[in-house]
Amino acid sequence: MNTNDQRSLQGKRILLVIGGGIAAYKSLDLIRRLKERGAEVRVVMTQAAQEFITPLSAGAIAGGQVHVDLFDWRAEFDVGHIRLARDADLVVVAPATADLMAKMAGGHADDIASTVLLATDKPVLIAPAMNPHMWSHAATRRNLAQLVADGVAVVGPNAGEMAEPGEAGVGRMAEPLEIVASVEARLISRYQGAGLSGRRVLVTAGPTQEPIDPVRYIANRSSGKQGFAIARAAAAAGADVTLVTGPVALADPPGVTVVKVESAREMLAEAERALPVDVAVFAAAVADWRVAAPGAQKLKKGTSGTPKLDLIENPDILATVAHRKSMRPALVIGFAAETENVIENARAKLDRKGCDWIVANDVSPGSEVMGGDRNSVHLVSRDGVESWPREDKQIVADKLIARIAAALAAAAK
Ligand code: C5P
Repeated sequence: MNTNDQRSLQGKRILLVIGGGIAAYKSLDLIRRLKERGAEVRVVMTQAAQEFITPLSAGAIAGGQVHVDLFDWRAEFDVGHIRLARDADLVVVAPATADLMAKMAGGHADDIASTVLLATDKPVLIAPAMNPHMWSHAATRRNLAQLVADGVAVVGPNAGEMAEPGEAGVGRMAEPLEIVASVEARLISRYQGAGLSGRRVLVTAGPTQEPIDPVRYIANRSSGKQGFAIARAAAAAGADVTLVTGPVALADPPGVTVVKVESAREMLAEAERALPVDVAVFAAAVADWRVAAPGAQKLKKGTSGTPKLDLIENPDILATVAHRKSMRPALVIGFAAETENVIENARAKLDRKGCDWIVANDVSPGSEVMGGDRNSVHLVSRDGVESWPREDKQIVADKLIARIAAALAAAAK
């Protein structure tokens, strides 16, 4: 499953779309890395990409024809762009230039790259690469948010030196091996089909929004990515999954019953409605407090000074479910986002909340867990602590699901 597993992508079909940026040279290495792991790689290049590398070199490494022209009758006769778009397990766009991202977000189809990206029914992973100013531009932010909402996965970009002298910042394409790890995380579910079939799993994810008045709310920065990855992994392992999520910009995972809520109290009600389940994983970042008496009308700036918000504590969803006398799930798992004494605090939380396991992660400044794609966690149970390496959130989810499947199987013996 990791990059040392040399045949990890055996039999997987990847369509690589190469955009026109200086990082295109790294795509040649990416093709090589994917192929050495057993993947079959088909390549599409934009017109601009051919200014940086040639179809000949990409084709030589990929071991096949490179598709560059939407109206090439020979290529159409051979494969056809619609089949190209569909006959893949994953579409990877690397480098994903600002222009290509804009085209994808807008649904354009005026060349072979944008056409296959619009025609595909397969998951898409993009590795953006551009100048830091272009990356931080409002238009790119908007396009990125749209792509993420459409279910596109993103790897990178990284911070560092740019091709232009004196330009540094976020915009460098992720390294080929990082892209490979992300491909593996998306394509390999080691527990496909068997581990949790016949089991019911509840997952909570995302932030909650607690109303202040009809237009304002209290919330937090949770992206929901880890919870969604867990729901996806549980479904891939054959479970019947209900995902109760606060407001996030993520596409619904396939094969999962998704229940959308806003406040903590709604999340609790929907989590309880999903019972009975075998396993409950509480990955949501639930607001600890809500406004005691949210305004029925929008609070106005007035003469009586700044408004005072009286806060009252929200129900603890995890503790409520873990302490239930009836319909307590066999395995109740909480998360702990800590900035210090991560493991000690997680141990204390295990007892306080009455759960079986805590997945503890370090969210101190610089850890880039919140909103990022990678997570480094400790699995804390009453039997001890296991620390896992920093990995893609989908790999963390896959591992957790494997552990859950093993624990349920052991308990059934
Ligand atoms: O106490 P703390 O917020 O750190 O606990 C985190 C864990 O508790 C997470 O699993 C979170 O989903 C859960 N939680 C909850 N309801 C709350 C607060 C936290 O389910 N009101």
